[in-house]
Amino acid sequence: MKVHPFINAEEIDRLNTTLAKKISSDYQNILAEKESLLVVITLKGALLFGADLIRKLTVPIHVDFVRLASYGAGIKSSGEVRFLKDIESSPEGNHILVLDEIIDSGRTWDFLRKRLGAANPKSLKICALLSKPSRREIEVTIDYLGREVEDKFLVGYGLDFNEDYRNLKEISYLE
Ligand code: IMP
Ligand code: MG
Repeated sequence: MKVHPFINAEEIDRLNTTLAKKISSDYQNILAEKESLLVVITLKGALLFGADLIRKLTVPIHVDFVRLASYGAGIKSSGEVRFLKDIESSPEGNHILVLDEIIDSGRTWDFLRKRLGAANPKSLKICALLSKPSRREIEVTIDYLGREVEDKFLVGYGLDFNEDYRNLKEISYLE
């Protein structure tokens, strides 16, 4: 399999800047005085996206993490979501923004939406850097989206192939 450049670091940065401006301006109005936005980063994939995006936000935030994985290795997911780590803060009474690097089948966000939503947050939204609409199996609404991508297997900027490539600055596709 070969690695082909797809989205370079400058474009990723531009997408992050646009997302952060919109999120900051929206939550400026939503958050009450002394309230912080609870940003939930989905490990491991959204590690780099999360680290870059939160540094661009201008509203007060707290950070927490969830870890999910789907069974199976390689480029084919089994479609079953394994929930490996929950947030440590209580969702109740918090404005929550989940960060995921890519929405593919929609299963991860569908799962988190139901799980975190059941615990009475003040609000619950999703921000994804990328989306592959052609792969959707569950209809989901993405509140903040960087850009859509075609159905290619992507690596880099947090995205892995059997744990390889996560640390690359740019996003490439494997073929
Ligand atoms: P879902 O299918 O929407 O539940 O997406 C689950 C997760 O699969 C994403 O958050 C990524 O971590 C991973 N994923 C989806 N597409 C790709 C890809 O092209 N490369 C690497 N990981 C991916
Ligand atoms: Mg992910």
